[in-house]
Amino acid sequence: MPKLTNPYFSVRGSKIQGKGAFAKKAIRKGTRVIEYTGELIPADEADRRYDDAAMKRHHTFLFQICDGDVCIDAAVKGNDARFINHSCDPNCEPVEDKGRIFIEATRAIKSGEELCYNYGFSVDKDEHKDWKQKYRCNCGAPNCSGNLLIKPRKKSKAKKKART
Ligand SMILES: C[S@@+](CC[C@H](N)C(=O)[O-])C[C@H]1O[C@@H](n2cnc3c(N)ncnc32)[C@H](O)[C@@H]1O
Ligand SMILES: [Zn+2]
Repeated sequence: MPKLTNPYFSVRGSKIQGKGAFAKKAIRKGTRVIEYTGELIPADEADRRYDDAAMKRHHTFLFQICDGDVCIDAAVKGNDARFINHSCDPNCEPVEDKGRIFIEATRAIKSGEELCYNYGFSVDKDEHKDWKQKYRCNCGAPNCSGNLLIKPRKKSKAKKKART
C-alpha cells in the first residue's frame, strides 16, 4: 500500500530537534492537521519502553491520555504526527475528540513554518535531579521557558472539544 502523505505538512530536519513538521501551504486557524496515532498502551508498559531515568535527554513518541493511565506510542503504528516538536509559543494544540487526539492549528500558519504544540510535560522534579538538562527546550521562542515542562503533574493533556 502506498504511504499516505499529509496534505498540510512534510517532515524534514528541524532547528529545534531532530525532524520536525513544516507547513506545505498556508493553514487556516482551526484546521485539524493530523490525528496523533499509534499503539495504545498502559502507563506501566510506556515506562518499560521508555526508561526516563536512563535517558540523558528525554526522547519519546508518547502522548498521554486518560489522565496519564494510557499512552499512545507513535513509535508503533504511528504516523507523521510523531514528528511535531514542542514550542513554548506554539501554533497548534492537541484536541481530544471522542477518545482520539487531533492536532489543530491555533492560528493562521504560513507555508514553511514549523508546526508545534506545547507538550505540557510534567515530572516529579525530585525523581529527576537532572530535569533541567534532560527536558531542556530548544524551541527558540522569545518566551521560551527553557524546558519542556509545565507546572501541573500530568503531561500532554488534550483540550476536549465536542464535535458532532
Ligand atoms: C515526538 S518527538 C518529536 C520529533 C523529534 N524531533 C524526532 O525527530 O524524533 C518528541 C521528542 O522530540 C524532542 N523535542 C521536541 N521538541 C523539542 C524542543 N522544543 N526542544 C528540545 N527537544 C525537543 C524531545 O526529545 C522529545 O521527547
Ligand atoms: Zn521553549
